[in-house]
Parts: sequence; structure tokens; C-alpha cells
Amino acid sequence: MSFDLVFFGGTGDLTWRKLMPALFQAFRHGKLPAGGRILAVARDERSDEEYRQFIHERFTEVDSNKRPSDDEFAKFAELLHYRRMDLSKPDDYAGLKQWLDARGAETVVLYLATSPHLFTGICEQLGRAGLNAPHIRVVLEKPLGHDLASAQEINQAVRAVFSEQQAFRIDHYLGKPSVQNLMALRFGNALFEPLWNRQSIANIQITLAESLGVGTRGDFYDRTGALRDMIQNHALQLLTMIAMEPPSSNNADAIRDEKLKVLRSLKPFTAESVGRDVVRGQYKAGNVDGKSVPGYLDEVKVPTGSHCETFVAIRTEVQNWRWAGVPFYLRTGKRLAARDAQIVVNFRPVPHPIFPGQNRANKLVIKLQPEDGLELQLQAAKGTGGAGGETLSTVSLDLDFDKAFPTDRVGAYERLLLDAIAGRLNLFVRSDEQEQAWRWVGPILDAWAADGDGPRGYAAGSWGPPAASALVARDGFTWAEEQ
Ligand code: BG6
Repeated sequence: MSFDLVFFGGTGDLTWRKLMPALFQAFRHGKLPAGGRILAVARDERSDEEYRQFIHERFTEVDSNKRPSDDEFAKFAELLHYRRMDLSKPDDYAGLKQWLDARGAETVVLYLATSPHLFTGICEQLGRAGLNAPHIRVVLEKPLGHDLASAQEINQAVRAVFSEQQAFRIDHYLGKPSVQNLMALRFGNALFEPLWNRQSIANIQITLAESLGVGTRGDFYDRTGALRDMIQNHALQLLTMIAMEPPSSNNADAIRDEKLKVLRSLKPFTAESVGRDVVRGQYKAGNVDGKSVPGYLDEVKVPTGSHCETFVAIRTEVQNWRWAGVPFYLRTGKRLAARDAQIVVNFRPVPHPIFPGQNRANKLVIKLQPEDGLELQLQAAKGTGGAGGETLSTVSLDLDFDKAFPTDRVGAYERLLLDAIAGRLNLFVRSDEQEQAWRWVGPILDAWAADGDGPRGYAAGSWGPPAASALVARDGFTWAEEQ
């Protein structure tokens, strides 16, 4: 299948840090369909050769096992092309169209790896230039808006030019093999489904913890904050996959319809419930991995006295028959004790314990990163016997998917780029899902804007403010690391 993949923002960070290395991996693994061209467009004048050189140099910043040898790069570079474009000039779009039409590839993927404030203008220009025929797809990189109104504005601009089938909205978490495994766990196995409900499950905890701080991205991050950066997209997508009803097929819309229903069933926030069920925090100086690190307010490009949250913990419920009354806790933060993304499904304890001291319930830990695995905690008899009778201890069934599938798995961006080229929408977010997620976080943003107190401090290297533990303790539970 012949394809042309065009990166708007072709010299930007996202392109050389994530997209080019991902494409190179696909190329190296022989997964990139033959007959492809990759065209980078950006504002400055460069030849194809100069652009290839630019990308080659940037590869030195990529993990060493993902770097091409000179030979490999020379072959990969044959696919790379460059075009100067001023994104505000209609003539430049007409020129791009000519370049694409001259070969007439079967598929054209236009990847908007630019600042999101340009999306609306680029889509209008693409439409005017006739760059929206059915074989053309557009890929939009997050962040898509900063609230419901701005997300709707972008979606309208996209919809005016492209059909929903042509729009590929990226949430890179959906490309992670560990996240795809969630679907396999639930809908490829009959084992858990009968237990996957309020009768058997006490609570579900989704944690996306990072040990890194905001680094040099202080100015971007300060306009964003953890709620917009991680909860509105990544954490809510994970929640939908855990809570959704089995879709009728593996078709993108069948899946996205079910995910949307979950988002619509989330308990809406009021100003009062935000105060009770949402904790926001900001890291202070502390110790991470044995090194002392500065607090958020001392990071570069962070405005003095900023109230931006670097941590959020939320208690919510999915208001439907399957989940009524089951707390779902979402938590994310920078500069936490570890880089650890996981979903913990805490089952209810046995209804009538017969063993002494028996108080532990079963727990399923779905590990997303750094490890990709599954741990099922069971109670077992140690067989020690004696006067007190049998005592139980916790043992784990532990699966390591990186070991089980050592060579087959591909990284998130590699997977998503290949799917965009193949026209497979399953791992992309539909506009109504995305807008519903904004609708749900809106009252939290409003309540915070009206609250002069700002976030609670927490020490870098901790698990966030103590109020996050209190949020869970109020229901009689603890976070996984506190057990
Ligand atoms: C991005 C956020 O979407 O996800 C970053 O903008 C965050 O702030 C990153 O660090 C985390 O992604 P990953 O794949 O490293 O967990």
C-alpha cells in the first residue's frame, strides 16, 4: 500500500523525539508498509539532504538500542523529504497538494505535530486546498483544547473539513501494549467477567505516578496542570476501559460507543463535591531516588506563586447498574515516590471468614509501566498448623508480559502511526468522548479557579499530600502502597 505521511511541525520536538524514532523502529522491524514517503514541513528553508542530516543528528538523543547504525539510517533516510511551508499561506497548501497529487499515493496521513492553537487554521487551509479527500487522514496530537469550549472549537474546525472516520485523535496511552492488554484481559478471557461488578469489587484505583518533575517544560505545564495533562485524557481513558460494557465487536465505533457511555455515567461534580472528592497538590523540595530536587515553584519558567497543580487525586463513581456505589480513585502526580502506572482492582473480602486473622481480600494489579504485567493476589495456607489453626498468607500469581512476548511488542507511537496509516481507528479518541471528558472535568477547573487557597504542598519523593490518603480512608480503604 503506498502512503505519504506528512508531519506539520517537522522540525519540532515531538517529531524528532517521538515520531521519527517510532517510525524508524517500524522500519527496522519491517512493519512500515513499502511504498511510503515521509514528508516533514516547517517554516525554514532546507533541502531534503539537510533535513535528513538534522534528523540523523537528533537520533543521538534517543535510547542507544533504538538508534540506527549509519547503514540503517541511510536506508531509512531515503523515505524522508522536506518542504518549506508557511502555514498561513494558501499557496503553500496548494504546493503541498501538487506534491502529493504528483504521485497519488493510496493513503495520505497529515499529522499535526504543531502547537494546538494552529489546528483550527491548518484545518481550514487544508479544506480550502482540497486536501481532505477520503483517502486523506488527519492526526491530531494532544492537548486538544484546554476546556470544553476550546475542544469543541477545534472539533468543529476538524469536522467542517474531515469526517470523523478521517480524524485520528491521539492519546498515546492507548498505544501502549499494556493498555491494549486491558481489553484482552477483559474481553479475551471469560474468567473475570462474572466478577467484574459491584457485587465482587470493593474499589478500583488508577495511579499514574511519575518521579520526574516538570523539567524545562515549566511554562507549558503551568498553563496545563495535572488535571488537564493526565486525568482528562490518559486516566479517564483507562477508567473507560476498566468500566465499559463488553462491546459487540472489535470495531472502533462499537468500542468507542461503550467508552462514551462510561464517561456519561461518571458522577458529575458540583462545587461542593470538588471540595470533598478532589485533592490537588504541588510538589515542594524533597528527595527522589536519593537526590534532592527543587520544589515546583523553583523550577525554570514557573511563574512566582503559581497555583498550578502537579498532583490530583479524585474519588468518583460510575453511576450504572454494574458499578453503583463502587468508588473509583484516580491519582496522578509529578515528583512522586516512583514511576509507576497501575490499576488495582480490590475485590471484596470473603463474606464469612473461617481462618484466624483472615482479613485480606483478593487483589488484581494490572501493571502498565515500568513493568507490563498482571499480578493476582490470593490467600493461601502456609501449612504451618499448630495450636492457633491454619493461618493464611498472601501469595501472587505474577505474569510478566515483556518476558512472555519479548520481541513482538511495539512502542506506543509506533503502534499509533502504523494504525493511522492502516486506517484503524480503535486506539484513537472520538470527538464526543473527548468532549464528554472535558465536560466532566469542567466543574473541577471552575471550583479551583474560584478557590484562592491553591494546591496543598507535598514533599517531592512522597505519594502526594496526606489528604489523598484521607480521601480513600474515608471509605475505609487505603492506597495500594499503604497496605
Ligand atoms: C504526556 C504528558 O501526555 O504524558 C506528560 O503531557 C507526561 O506530562 C507523559 O510526562 C507521561 O507519559 P508516559 O508515556 O511517560 O507515561
